[in-house]
Amino acid sequence: MPDVVKTGVDGLDSILNGGIVRDATVLVSGNPGTGKSIFGIQYLYEGVTEFDERGVYISFEENAEDIRQAAESVGFDRWEELVESGDIKVYDKRRMLREQDFTSAVDGLLEDFSSDEYDRLVLDSLTMFQLFFDDEREKRTYLLKFSDVLKQYGLTSLLINEQGAMFPETEIGLENFLTDGNIYFIQTPTDSGVNRYIWVAKMRKQDINTDIFPLEIGEGGITVYEQAGGFSMMGKNESPF
Ligand SMILES: Nc1ncnc2c1ncn2[C@@H]1O[C@H](COP(=O)(O)OP(=O)(O)OP(=O)(O)O)[C@@H](O)[C@H]1O
Ligand SMILES: [Mg+2]
Repeated sequence: MPDVVKTGVDGLDSILNGGIVRDATVLVSGNPGTGKSIFGIQYLYEGVTEFDERGVYISFEENAEDIRQAAESVGFDRWEELVESGDIKVYDKRRMLREQDFTSAVDGLLEDFSSDEYDRLVLDSLTMFQLFFDDEREKRTYLLKFSDVLKQYGLTSLLINEQGAMFPETEIGLENFLTDGNIYFIQTPTDSGVNRYIWVAKMRKQDINTDIFPLEIGEGGITVYEQAGGFSMMGKNESPF
């Protein structure tokens, strides 16, 4: 069995047959408000508090204060303390957008990771990151280089991907193929709010469960109900999509 990194979401780790393969780069896709950022925050928070692994959070979407508030909204009360101690390093929107030359900003940041101090990385979001490139070819080349460097530095990474299409429609881009894993966060409207689901569509080197499972967001972050019995799009259980 390969060496795995536990996400800290128990139900998800069961679906993943233990966790994410170490040094893998995983694409996390979903519509707005599906829980992608909370998942990233939880991955880093549990990383430090449960598994003694330090992490990096790069955000083009939010500033450090927003991220802290999101963490505290689900009860990760030690977030700020961990940021201050350096166990979680946050490169926020303000910091990332300050540099004029974007690639040199990223190169500088990658240099910070070469020190072997960090095990986990979250990029929120890859979609925004890609906006810095003018042409498709440049974007692809950089993405390849970037994911290579992450592996080389021993980082197990979540790349967050904003998905415009509503499930079961999915936009499949080069990033889906280039990454080692693809996880989707899904929500469907109901009379009283939303139903939330998670789907692991691929994880190289792991024997995963590819059914779709219910999840909830609340105190303690994300809970995946893998015992509830998943369903497949083709299966006997009725699909809500
Ligand atoms: N304490 C909480 N209890 C219940 N639900 C919560 C709580 N905190 C946040 N949420 C839910 O989590 C969702 C936000 O998740 P998150 O910010 O991770 O989404 P996202 O996928 O990153 O969205 P975006 O693409 O807009 O950045 C909110 O829509 C909210 O409904
Ligand atoms: Mg987000």
